[in-house]
Amino acid sequence: MIDTHSHLLDDVFKDDLDECIQRCKDNNVNKIILVGFDRITNSKAVELSKKYDIFYPTAGIHPEEVKDINDLSYLSDFINNNKVYAVGECGLDYHWTKDNKELQKEIFEGQIKLSIDYNLPLIIHSRDAIEDTYNILKKYKGQIRGVMHCYSGSLEMAQKFLDLGLYIGLDGPVTFKNAKEPKRVASNIPLDRLLLETDCPWMTPTPFRGKRNESSYVVYVCQEIASLRGMDCTEIEKITDKNAISLFNI
Ligand code: NI
Repeated sequence: MIDTHSHLLDDVFKDDLDECIQRCKDNNVNKIILVGFDRITNSKAVELSKKYDIFYPTAGIHPEEVKDINDLSYLSDFINNNKVYAVGECGLDYHWTKDNKELQKEIFEGQIKLSIDYNLPLIIHSRDAIEDTYNILKKYKGQIRGVMHCYSGSLEMAQKFLDLGLYIGLDGPVTFKNAKEPKRVASNIPLDRLLLETDCPWMTPTPFRGKRNESSYVVYVCQEIASLRGMDCTEIEKITDKNAISLFNI
């Protein structure tokens, strides 16, 4: 099984990262996309991936981190000088910060162009900004590939992102009892466009909701989607592994 969106590089794992990785191996989670989101974590993703071969690093500027960025020459240089498997996470987030929408859009669009230039997939974060995210992405239809990470929109909106050729990444919320729409999305999107994620240390699935999330818990996301679709977990694993390997070239 593959966790296609992990932040095991976060400081909350600094004391027990080896144990976390062992739990992944014990649970047959054998590849992890290690997602950077600012200068520090991009470097950390690359460094940790040299130490642990389970990791595949990415580099990007998260919309909440755009304030420190004047242009994308830093990111372009970083991707040039380091082996990364995706651009991102990047995107739009109007949940906490609404007063810099134009800057967020500019930095997002810059990262879309970088992903095209470097022929890398995009990891797209979108929170309270789904229409703007779609409107920017659709300008690049036919040129982009990537994933709508931790997708939280409607099934109808998911269809529009699928029409752009994107994958849909699902995380812990799909396991929450009251999560009607994520369950509807998980039950209905084409399986050949589904990716499993944790977004750890956040988005912890049931039965560990409220505690720290970690990559080995991706099995709970897999189990929930399998049960929603009346399938075996191993079937979902097989299909989503294939999707992840093909998108990220891992
Ligand atoms: Ni993330």
